[in-house]
Amino acid sequence: MEKLAELYPQHLQEMQNRTKEALSRESIDGLIIHSGQSKRMFLDDNHYPFHVNPQFKAWVPVIDNPNCWIIVNGEDKPKLIFYRPKDFWHKVPPEPTEYWAEHFDIILLTQADAVEKHLPYDKSKYAYVGEYLEVARALGFELVNPDRVLHYLHYQRAYKTEYEQRCMRMANKVAVGGHKMAEQAFRAGESEFDINLAYLKAIQQGDNQVPYTNIVALNRNASILHYMVPDTKAPFKSRSFLIDAGAEFNGYAADITRTYSKEKNHFSELIEAMDKVTLHLVDRLKPGIPYTDIQFAAHECIAELLSSFNFVNLSAEDIVQQKITKPFFPHGIGHFLGLQVHDVAGLVANDRGTPNPAPEDHPFLRTTRTVEANQVFTIEPGLYFIDSLLDELRASEQSKYINWNVIDEYRLFGGIRIEDNVIVHRERNENMTREAGLN
Ligand code: GLY
Ligand code: MN
Ligand code: MN
Repeated sequence: MEKLAELYPQHLQEMQNRTKEALSRESIDGLIIHSGQSKRMFLDDNHYPFHVNPQFKAWVPVIDNPNCWIIVNGEDKPKLIFYRPKDFWHKVPPEPTEYWAEHFDIILLTQADAVEKHLPYDKSKYAYVGEYLEVARALGFELVNPDRVLHYLHYQRAYKTEYEQRCMRMANKVAVGGHKMAEQAFRAGESEFDINLAYLKAIQQGDNQVPYTNIVALNRNASILHYMVPDTKAPFKSRSFLIDAGAEFNGYAADITRTYSKEKNHFSELIEAMDKVTLHLVDRLKPGIPYTDIQFAAHECIAELLSSFNFVNLSAEDIVQQKITKPFFPHGIGHFLGLQVHDVAGLVANDRGTPNPAPEDHPFLRTTRTVEANQVFTIEPGLYFIDSLLDELRASEQSKYINWNVIDEYRLFGGIRIEDNVIVHRERNENMTREAGLN
């Protein structure tokens, strides 16, 4: 297996090609990409955790250094202005010497506001790409985040280079180690807070380094889709455990969910059935199909379970038709994954950014793109017992089809989601999560 160092030059070449095409379409000479700035809290002298501009980390795996700049034109050796202040308060990142460094002309910047002398004098044909519009203005940029350039780059980001695929495999591997430790902590009866610590310890990443806030939910809390404040107190009895937790590698994300039952019971049977649904839907990813088809297929699968587990006294077909799956599975079946957890350009029809929104009945679906080789998706069906949505169902005409006594037996368990990360290849799908050893 090639090392990252061997894969990186091809990735860089692809980045150059994409940039060249984007620039030539708009008659722009180059992009000047800002890593970002450290943001101070209002009326305070503390700073928010730094999150790098994704357009910057697409070029180099530098995710923790503000005030850096990349200058590219798609042809010449790219230039990296790397911030290395004289600073006795903070850790100063070392001068880059890793495998990627030789591919850049590197300038070390000791003062953030002294960058101007390293930028092209005439900026009229250069575009600033970054978050800080006032900085761009002060430096004299007229072109700031040009829409059509960003649409093109975002659209292309759906196709992961081999280097990126390797990074995402690594992110999955790291996250899987955490998931295994988290399951053990759950089985030992620990609190949500302590389970989260066990996870972070295993992956050796802090709360501010993981790609999104972990969801670590016991019992009923598993029905709260974005449950983000873990309880420090262990419950009297841990019945069920839902963990949606990722890891970061070179700026790329993993996004994995598992659900466990403490005991073998009707809930563990439902988990097993949901696991089969995830694997079935992963198999349905094929180049050429609209991702939206997976969303529709997921509703069919959930409907089968609602029928076979006696939640609903209707055939699967009728359950879908009556829209009864929606309160049990209210979110999208998945999304692009990459430099961002919900990676960009899922809802466009082409590289000019023409919108292709989610179907009206599925407003939370995050991609409607056609599935193609080298794209990376999550597949994350869920089945939850969410009180507020069940209240609406009970008040609706469909209430008469529902076995409320059966539903009540499951409410204490909260819900289930099983989320895998998958690379679509021309001939096969690579389920990175399973291949990293998480069942
Ligand atoms: N962890 C966020 C998501 O699954 O989309
Ligand atoms: Mn997730
Ligand atoms: Mn996800």
